[in-house]
Amino acid sequence: MLAASVVLDPAAVVAPVSRRTFGSFVEHMGRCVYTGIHEPGHPQADEDGFRTDVLALTRELGVTMVRYPGGNFVSGYRWEDGVGPVAQRPRRRDLAWHSIETNQVGIDEFARWAAKADVEIMYAVNLGTRGVQEALDVHEYVNHAEGTQLSELRRANGAAKPYGITLWCLGNELDGPWQTGHKTAQEYGLLAAATARALRSAEPGLELVACGSSSSAMPTFGSWEATVLEHAYDVVDYVSCHAYYEELDGDLGSFLASAVDMDHFVDSIVATADSVGARLRSKKKINISFDEWNVWYLSRFQGQEPRADWPVAPRVIEDEYNVADAVVVGNLLISLLRHSDRVTAACQAQLVNVIAPIRTEPGGPAWRQTIFHPFAKTAALARGSVLHTRLDSPTYATARHGEVAVVDAVATYDGEDGDLVIFAVNRDQTDSVELTVDLHLFNADLHLAEAWTLTDDDLRATNTREQPDRVTPVPAQRVTVDGGTLRVVLPRVSWSAIRLHPARATR
Ligand code: AHR
Repeated sequence: MLAASVVLDPAAVVAPVSRRTFGSFVEHMGRCVYTGIHEPGHPQADEDGFRTDVLALTRELGVTMVRYPGGNFVSGYRWEDGVGPVAQRPRRRDLAWHSIETNQVGIDEFARWAAKADVEIMYAVNLGTRGVQEALDVHEYVNHAEGTQLSELRRANGAAKPYGITLWCLGNELDGPWQTGHKTAQEYGLLAAATARALRSAEPGLELVACGSSSSAMPTFGSWEATVLEHAYDVVDYVSCHAYYEELDGDLGSFLASAVDMDHFVDSIVATADSVGARLRSKKKINISFDEWNVWYLSRFQGQEPRADWPVAPRVIEDEYNVADAVVVGNLLISLLRHSDRVTAACQAQLVNVIAPIRTEPGGPAWRQTIFHPFAKTAALARGSVLHTRLDSPTYATARHGEVAVVDAVATYDGEDGDLVIFAVNRDQTDSVELTVDLHLFNADLHLAEAWTLTDDDLRATNTREQPDRVTPVPAQRVTVDGGTLRVVLPRVSWSAIRLHPARATR
């Protein structure tokens, strides 16, 4: 067995846990909306056509915020197609996913769904084929109280009160040549700044996200962010990051260390944003909205023949996730939490069916994929502040990320109820690791409250319609707290969460 150790200090705080870290993403893509969240006629559909089984799973997942309506889709979207009498809404081509958009769900329906799911809406405007005026129009429709043409239209459509959407994405991935209305950094920076200024004139308190690079592999990674922020620094609050990970060429060791890449990604964009801030002599800090992240078997998707037909809600990238994928997702959440001083919003992409923790069948059941579990437990348990972790771990060599630690971990501490939670992964493919956590700096007698581990002898095991609970977290077997020291055995390729609480405290 390998050994690793960490010393925790309640005073060594990174930042408060941001609830927006547990965001998700609903795009009009594949079956995320249609037969995902919305399926009139389904046995479990409610009066608005929303699947109550999916709503229940969304709440159980602990999602706090949902980005909508895209993604690549938004860069050709006309928001006004999705409001008013449903029967009169136009059918349009969606160039991003080569599908037909029926517009049966638009912003009013989505806002009703978001209220039922108890999630904040993060709204993305189209800066691909559209610009400042259309962004102002949709803002007037959703956020202006009353007495103007578009606010009265919303009221006539059944929403007397404005939706109060605070967080806005200024377009999506406009650095990508695949994006409808793709732009240079200079073009996009000017448009994002102009749109941000206009939206702020309408409502000064909005929080605005400028598009960063669509991945760290883009040739313009870093320079794109620098140019965009040179134009928009004063009028935006966030720059976005997007990252998807997959196991390539059977290299599980590199894949398990994907969070090393995410750490590097965040550090690079923070450095880029801060260097622009320094050049502009600004005291303001730009935060990161990691508003697309997940495991996605992108190379399989890119290897497919382009569609020739124009289907409605086809099955697109319905990746089936295994145990190793769940461990990576748990580790990516550790990375996001570790960066809570600068990553204050994040969205796992996506919520249902499309590279998603929740899967559905039309007319049939909904179930939890393996990646559902680390997200749900982290969202439920991470509270209070994120602590710095000083980890001492063995290392292993990877082809993609160099020498990396076998164990990765982060801790959160709630000063109010005294709960301390440690999230940890073991990336070793053969050996268990005994992780020792030094708790002496906590002025409390901490006891074990709960401990969960997700692992399996079969790292390729998945949850399916037939076996929806094949992979779930189970109570950790080998964990003790004694004399100010926590010892937990982390099985090979596993994700774990351990909650400690002070003696006599209840939760
Ligand atoms: O989440 C799937 C797609 O990935 C999104 O539409 C796009 O923004 C990204 O490239």
